[in-house]
Amino acid sequence: MSLDKQIFKPLQIVGGLIMTLVTLPIFAETNQEQFELGKQKAKVCMTCHGVDGISTQEPYPNLRGQKIGYLISSLKDYQTRERTSGLAVLMQQQADMLTDQDIQDISYYYSQLGNNSTLDSDSKL
Ligand code: HEC
Repeated sequence: MSLDKQIFKPLQIVGGLIMTLVTLPIFAETNQEQFELGKQKAKVCMTCHGVDGISTQEPYPNLRGQKIGYLISSLKDYQTRERTSGLAVLMQQQADMLTDQDIQDISYYYSQLGNNSTLDSDSKL
């Protein structure tokens, strides 16, 4: 019985390693895909938030490198009118045009901009 276990354990570890090696490139590809999708969808945002997510005008916040969770919750807050202060009305109109999937993709894009050197080198405009 104990012999069985000893043989089984290393096999499990090797199996786990192989699974990781096989699935890693798939994840990387999906991330790159989402990054590119987000980049396309973010074109409308660039007028105000800058081509690289760094805004050139004072009232417009920077989005580059922002936390993904914060971007998603902000966009949802504009949609649901939880955020109403100052120039929020501008963003409410923008957010209304986005689906949940758009929000995920765009937020992923901005969160990765400036955070990951390999992704970033592709995205210099
Ligand atoms: C017409 C100009 C304009 C466009 C276009 C625009 N935004 Fe904004 N955005 C603003 C302004 C102004 C604010 C600050 C609003 C406020 O006071 O809450 C803002 C705020 C935000 C915030 C909150 C940032 C923070 O630090 O709290 C996010 C996230 C955001 N915009 C994402 C987007 C995305 C994604 C798009 C494209 C789909 C977009 N914006 C398009 C003007 C714009």
